[in-house]
Amino acid sequence: MNVELKDIQKTFGMVHANGGISLKIPAGTIQGILGENGAGKSTLMKILSGFIRPDQGEILLDGHTVSIHSPADAIRLGVGMLHQDPLDFPPLRVIENFILGSAGGLLPDQGAVLRDFKKLAGQFGFSLDPEAYVDSLTVGERQQLEILRLIWLGASVMIFDEPTTGISTAQKMKLFAALCLLAEQGKTVLFVSHKLDDVEGLCSRVAVLRQGYLVGEAKQPYSTKKLVEMMFGKTISVGGRKPCRADKVTVNLSKLRVEDYRLKVRDVNLDVHCGEVIGLAGMEGSGQGLFLRAVGGMTHTVGGKILIDGRDLTGRSYQTFKKHGVAFLPAARLEEGLVPGLTLTEHFILAEEAKGFFINWDKGRLLAQERIKEFDVRGIPANTVESLSGGNQQRALLALLRDSLNLLLLEHPTRGLDIESVIYIWNKLKERCQKGTAILFVSSDLEEILQYSDQVLVFFSGKVTPPLDASTLTTEKLGELIGGKGWPESTDEGKLA
Ligand SMILES: Nc1ncnc2c1ncn2[C@@H]1O[C@H](COP(=O)(O)OP(=O)(O)OP(=O)(O)O)[C@@H](O)[C@H]1O
Ligand SMILES: [Mg+2]
Repeated sequence: MNVELKDIQKTFGMVHANGGISLKIPAGTIQGILGENGAGKSTLMKILSGFIRPDQGEILLDGHTVSIHSPADAIRLGVGMLHQDPLDFPPLRVIENFILGSAGGLLPDQGAVLRDFKKLAGQFGFSLDPEAYVDSLTVGERQQLEILRLIWLGASVMIFDEPTTGISTAQKMKLFAALCLLAEQGKTVLFVSHKLDDVEGLCSRVAVLRQGYLVGEAKQPYSTKKLVEMMFGKTISVGGRKPCRADKVTVNLSKLRVEDYRLKVRDVNLDVHCGEVIGLAGMEGSGQGLFLRAVGGMTHTVGGKILIDGRDLTGRSYQTFKKHGVAFLPAARLEEGLVPGLTLTEHFILAEEAKGFFINWDKGRLLAQERIKEFDVRGIPANTVESLSGGNQQRALLALLRDSLNLLLLEHPTRGLDIESVIYIWNKLKERCQKGTAILFVSSDLEEILQYSDQVLVFFSGKVTPPLDASTLTTEKLGELIGGKGWPESTDEGKLA
């Protein structure tokens, strides 16, 4: 189906999220929508898929003006969307979820549905158990299910909003293959991202948004430099490494053991110095997340010791760790980090340690204003956190952290952020390192691990390497270790091949 957007406008208060965007997308193509955080990508896509009403503008499908008032309207017209933040999943089985939203009041014939499901899944090479519960699936598998569901509902325009965040490299390859297949079948695929590599590798054409406007379009072969300039209105450079490790050891782990029902992380010995950054690499679920949470008292350890600033905190709660200057920033910003429905001001009031019974709103607002400015959060104190774009939510989380910390534990600190925000956030983090804070962070982005860590620990099904010097490690070597290659038979001696 050919899609045409004409002069789409949408404002939220003072923000021009879409300032009159016109774009034509022919059927059978993968169209990239590229743009920095807050550029207006999700807003435009939500308008096309009926989740948001535009203030002005027209949508044409195969040359006919349509009016889309709801997601149900959109899907009836053949437009479906996979969201950036997966919508809540009801406690259903895969197959029950698959038939959600299907037309007709009567229950469809179970046997026929199951056959359709298996046929479609087979076509795309997805191995999903129809009887499994949806909440037991990984992000990548939920995505696969959602793709199948939308196709089954008859979508011929499919929108993917940042679909590669939070899935493994293998799942990403599968996803990209599926998108290519969809385009071959004549469907119109819209791929929203701020990752240049992904867009360049996958999309036959790309539209670039900046601050609510369409600033340009490009076709293969792309010039990366030009795309970056369009995205940010300037060239961007990452800058050199800035180690700021001091002599003093702030965290000492000896023979630390952590376990969950699947994994055993054994006997980790580690000294973390003030100002040092240690990257934890590995495929999702290799033990790095478990380890990170254990070092902050959020997961029980089964052996060994954790000393923070010389004090033995083994077996104590996160509250105790917090009292000793440890802070944790989770990956799930809106599930664990920020509180949806509360404003930025309210967050700053909550984050400050309560003194007395009364809430000092003026102080909270003032603090919010100051921090918004310092951390360049695009928003105002009265904004609720869910109204901020992904990148700005992350900036807000960082702005909420207390000033003097011994140890900062971060899960995917820049997941979903554009290059400019990544550099900005790491500059802010490195400022903290200069004041002596040590950082342990988990990331699935190899470049980020190599660029910003002093030392790297690689995890592979619970096994851990000794600390590796990031300045001499290469992407290839790191990639191999993450994939389980180049490990010695036994890592007890702490030697690597
Ligand atoms: N419901 C809302 N209420 C208020 N402001 C909003 C709302 N939704 C979006 N905005 C604002 O509109 C602008 C564009 O947001 P949008 O989510 O479309 O950006 P994006 O390009 O998808 O960014 P990201 O890469 O961070 O996901 C941002 O400044 C955002 O704060
Ligand atoms: Mg978005």
